[in-house]
Amino acid sequence: MLRIISAALGLLAFTAEARAETIAFAQVGSESDWRTAFTADMKAEAAKRGINLVFADADNDAGREREAVRGFIARHVDAIVIAPVVVDGWTDTLKAVKAAGIPVFIADRAVDADPSLYVARIAASSALEGRLAGAWLAQATAGECGVVELQGTTGSEPAIQRHQGFLAIAALFPGMRVLHSANGNFTTEGGRSAMVELIKETNGLRGVCAVWSHNDNMLLGAIQTMQDAGLHPGRDLLTVSFDGLPSIYHAMLDGTATMSVQVKTRLGPYIFDVVQGYLSGRRNYPKWVVVPSALHTKADAASMLGKAH
Ligand code: AHR
Repeated sequence: MLRIISAALGLLAFTAEARAETIAFAQVGSESDWRTAFTADMKAEAAKRGINLVFADADNDAGREREAVRGFIARHVDAIVIAPVVVDGWTDTLKAVKAAGIPVFIADRAVDADPSLYVARIAASSALEGRLAGAWLAQATAGECGVVELQGTTGSEPAIQRHQGFLAIAALFPGMRVLHSANGNFTTEGGRSAMVELIKETNGLRGVCAVWSHNDNMLLGAIQTMQDAGLHPGRDLLTVSFDGLPSIYHAMLDGTATMSVQVKTRLGPYIFDVVQGYLSGRRNYPKWVVVPSALHTKADAASMLGKAH
């Protein structure tokens, strides 16, 4: 009898082990090269781990993203990962997921809902990235710099936190002022048109010593606009941005960009370590698993090109 019971238990354990976990991932969209690299990494990491990944691209539409999450509930997935378009409006959706008994993990961008509604957030600190950028610019200009700002998607966590982090440092230097801001939605095209607006507002970037962009793609678009207008970014103007894309290191080496804070796109291992750990019973995760970011300039641009992001 004992032998039959232990054989049955063994079979049960084997079946549980063999069943692939179904993990759903609601992604912001594909607005930037950073985002498409992050999506590719999630897909590759899921495949490597034998995870059945259910993927939804919200195309930068917060309502569509919430709908996708409700669809995941109907599919009875084992866990849900959300990279939220914007911080607000998540409470009801997260309550519905919780009521269905599905654990939720927030990745990359944050939500402003009650943290008890999700297991953990796995992400870099956008506020720290903003402070790093502000501190670099303050030292590069001895605290004397008129800045124009290219903002990311309104209401998104990196746009809010990078802005606040940068301003917290700028506020320490009376000579550091943000002269004008324009929204470029984190896209290259948005950066192009936002720079057209900034050039008009500042009469050809007069009195501007730096362009501060909430991501690399917007800066790359803005660089083209500035060059078309006969300006020389990188030579006459400093640039600070975020993501650390290969194209920004190329721009540094070409002399048209000066600094970027690299934000990891290889988030899949960080995220699935936590999700799978949780699904196999581990409970002692901090609410925020912080992923490191680092600042890079032309000095190390060449070596950064050869490294995984
Ligand atoms: O949430 C991270 C930000 O979103 C990236 O810095 C930006 O490129 C993306 O669109």
